[in-house]
Amino acid sequence: MPDMQDYSNKSLLRFTTTGSVDDGKSTLIGRLLFETNCIFEDQYASIQKTSLRRGQNEVDLSLLLDGLAAEREQGITIDVAYRYFTTPRRKFIIADTPGHEQYTRNMVTGASTAELAIILIDARNGVMTQSKRHGFLVSLLGIPHLIVAVNKMDLVDYSKDVYDSIVEEYSQFSEKLDIHDIVFIPVSALAGDNVVRRSEKTPWYDGHTLLHMLETVHVQADKNLVDFRFPVQYVSRPNLDFRGFAGRIASGTIRPGEEIAVLPSGKTSKVKSIVTFEGEREEAFAGQSVMLTLEDEVDVSRGDMLVRVNNLPQAANTFEAIICWMDEDKLSQNTHYLIKHTTNTTKAFITKILYKIDVNTLHREDAASFELNEIGRVEIKTAQKLFFDSYKQNRATGNFILIDPVTNRTVAAGMIRGVLRSIKEVQSEESSIPRISPNVAWEQGFITRAQWEVRNGHKSAVLWFTGLSGSGKSTVARQVGRELFNRGCRIMSLDGDNVRHGLCGDLGFSARDRSENIRRVGHAARLFFDQGAIAVCTFISPFRQDRTYVRQLFPAGHFIEVFVDCDVDVCKKRDPKGLYKKAETGEIKEFTGVSSPYEKPQKAEVTVDTVTMSVEESVATIIAYLQKNGIIT
Ligand code: ADX
Repeated sequence: MPDMQDYSNKSLLRFTTTGSVDDGKSTLIGRLLFETNCIFEDQYASIQKTSLRRGQNEVDLSLLLDGLAAEREQGITIDVAYRYFTTPRRKFIIADTPGHEQYTRNMVTGASTAELAIILIDARNGVMTQSKRHGFLVSLLGIPHLIVAVNKMDLVDYSKDVYDSIVEEYSQFSEKLDIHDIVFIPVSALAGDNVVRRSEKTPWYDGHTLLHMLETVHVQADKNLVDFRFPVQYVSRPNLDFRGFAGRIASGTIRPGEEIAVLPSGKTSKVKSIVTFEGEREEAFAGQSVMLTLEDEVDVSRGDMLVRVNNLPQAANTFEAIICWMDEDKLSQNTHYLIKHTTNTTKAFITKILYKIDVNTLHREDAASFELNEIGRVEIKTAQKLFFDSYKQNRATGNFILIDPVTNRTVAAGMIRGVLRSIKEVQSEESSIPRISPNVAWEQGFITRAQWEVRNGHKSAVLWFTGLSGSGKSTVARQVGRELFNRGCRIMSLDGDNVRHGLCGDLGFSARDRSENIRRVGHAARLFFDQGAIAVCTFISPFRQDRTYVRQLFPAGHFIEVFVDCDVDVCKKRDPKGLYKKAETGEIKEFTGVSSPYEKPQKAEVTVDTVTMSVEESVATIIAYLQKNGIIT
């Protein structure tokens, strides 16, 4: 759509109108254009003539739009026509959604940037399924303001009762929706009642006219001015000295000098300047189309997203979404679609249909597929990772459309709810990811483990110390290491606190991060193991599943789990690093033994109890085990 720059002081309101066939949508828009003097004299004269010729008493303002519609039809397929009008107070863009059958589709397309929606209800017909469907869509699409215009009041004799009962029925329905601002107005678009001028025929109505509401509704607060997101539309390089990144600010604000990161590369730089057709600017906001230049020569291409370093969107290729199916052919889970999200397009599969929603009752129903106009919740998997926010948080980066690559039709519009995070999903992801980079082959050491073992005079092994923080793992392990060293053994040590400086410095202490920590060090231990070492590993490793994972990386008999057993109360008393104290006051979260579980080993090769045994006794027990099992002599 043409982008109306919004740099004048007059504010801009984007709204959309919907209604069933013959609800009077065209007439209403015609009325607004006409009474705000936004049509030309000759246009008016011509429709006046046509109306007279057809024997109509009133000038049929919808003819105005029919003329425009005809123009539009010369184009290829435009789902939504945008109309502009202006009053001394505001500028307006109406997303008019023509078409007679596919309202839902058109509404979704037209409404994606709308700040307000007008739903027309024919006073004679009352609340129809369509009216509810549209209300539901308004809520789903997160359009902040809804005006329900009860139209054709002239045909029900301006009856207060008729109006009241429609208001009551629709209010009851809309209570279940997520719409914060909803107002009702009795109008006659044809006669002009309460559209631009207050009607004398509805003395019982003490609200404002439609135009007054459009002019005064407060929309600035609805914009997301917090999360800076700039999907790059194209890179402009008119000459070697200038490189600008053009696009529309999806949300947030930006100023020169501010640090940004480029996604997906993660490269950072600072904004050098903000360029527009009207020159450079000191600040730009959500909704504005600008060109940004950066301080550094970083790679940026179409489809990338510029964001703030400390405010990142989610990144995933599986997520949940609510979609509205808009195609004659029903949804198929076996074919791939193209997903268009911000300035990116990639392949997408609908991997699961969770449910569909009955728009009348708002109940969830099981579904194997979606047909035209059906709405429901699905899981989607995309070929490329997308950067997004939940639609609730950010409409611009939370919406997408699906396109059928064969017919090229838009088959669905969707709103992202968030990344998939059911525990099952996480587990299946973990086990299904092969954890091997593409195009790599394992290189056998040119010196084999067997050769090392002969040279070293001992077997390769992994000594895996597990236990609570403060249980004495490191103390015992250090002494065991010293003893092995003295015996001339080749040892390598891996310790929780140490690997978390650097190698695993990106990980915290959530269950997921701990698993990843253990996975990494397990593989590091394996490399040492293959090169003849006795790897002495000291990690809390509180989860049995993670320890089992590491165990299976080694041949039987070579992985020796040493459970350093110590009552948690004793650990708390020892508290060598003062961490238990902090954990108990809540200063440290997810602390093992306090706010995160420790799963004791069920069949550790060696158990040493540091409450009852001295360090020397523990060391002796472990060395004895190694000798007895042929690791050392
Ligand atoms: S593990 O759970 O992933 O195996 P790891 O052994 O690497 O933990 O690190 C544990 C060390 O991190 C502890 O010795 C302690 O010094 C420090 N630490 C910091 N926060 C925590 C926490 N929430 N839980 C446990 N240890 C923590």
